[in-house]
Amino acid sequence: MKRIIVITGVSRGLGKVLFDYLSKDSNNEVIGSSRTKNGKPNIYLLDITNQESIAEFLDKVISKYHRIDVLINNAGTNMIGSVEGMSKAEIDDQMACNFFGTIHMMKAVLQVFRQQNVGKIINISSLGANVSLPYNSIYCAGKAGLQAFCESLYYELADSPITVSMVEPIGLKLTDEVPMIAYIDNEKSFSKSSLKVRHKMMTHVRPSVSRMKVANKVERIIKSRSPKLRYPVGIVAWSILTLKYLLPFKLFARLIQKQFK
Ligand SMILES: NC(=O)c1ccc[n+]([C@@H]2O[C@H](COP(=O)([O-])OP(=O)(O)OC[C@H]3O[C@@H](n4cnc5c(N)ncnc54)[C@H](OP(=O)(O)O)[C@@H]3O)[C@@H](O)[C@H]2O)c1
Repeated sequence: MKRIIVITGVSRGLGKVLFDYLSKDSNNEVIGSSRTKNGKPNIYLLDITNQESIAEFLDKVISKYHRIDVLINNAGTNMIGSVEGMSKAEIDDQMACNFFGTIHMMKAVLQVFRQQNVGKIINISSLGANVSLPYNSIYCAGKAGLQAFCESLYYELADSPITVSMVEPIGLKLTDEVPMIAYIDNEKSFSKSSLKVRHKMMTHVRPSVSRMKVANKVERIIKSRSPKLRYPVGIVAWSILTLKYLLPFKLFARLIQKQFK
């Protein structure tokens, strides 16, 4: 029997890499989602910010494949900008996708998992869940909130064969595709420092990991008998996390600020 894997947001970026990579394993039947029709088999319409869309998507998947073994919550957005420069709509839209949409996806699929009495949730989180970067407040807040949610859910699922895990990469290597990071144009308060951050994030200066490394980590979780809650990806992510917990905050903050000077 094939393993049924659902991945959200496979039109580009990490989602596309995960979809292609996991599809190569003949034990997997991989189903992806996109917000626009692309005519590809196994890719269905889904907007995770819309409850009806989630219900329709899951109806289609369940009526065709009759179960789901793994849910990979990959869909996400990132908008760089200062707190003062962001509109309410820009804040709400980002939280609607990265935080609320991801939670509603988990909640809906948990019903399926409870009926099957088995299933794995894998959320693509970020180092930003633990280490907030300047001009990235809403993204980091969404990922941090999701981390708190998953930690709580971990305990709720502890007595069941259903698991929840988070993969926490540092910045992914930039490619020529549409970058995930969008920039707020209507910045009233752009200071010299925020323009520098923009520039740093646009260039390859930041530490980064390859999407394939993240895909390998996800595959390990899929195959694991008892997955952990958290999986930082890459030695740099581990080092930054260790420094955050060991150093006094002011010293750690100075190290972060230095990256953007
Ligand atoms: N890029 C990084 O440096 C980085 C670092 C750490 C973690 N991550 C995490 O990795 C994941 C993927 O990032 P990425 O860089 O590959 O992003 P990306 O290239 O921008 O792709 C994002 C995907 O999410 C989908 N999506 C966006 N809003 C959606 C919605 N409301 N409903 C359903 N699908 C939606 C998009 O699909 P459409 O075709 O419908 O637009 C697209 O396929 C995200 O969760 C992100 O937070 C990224």
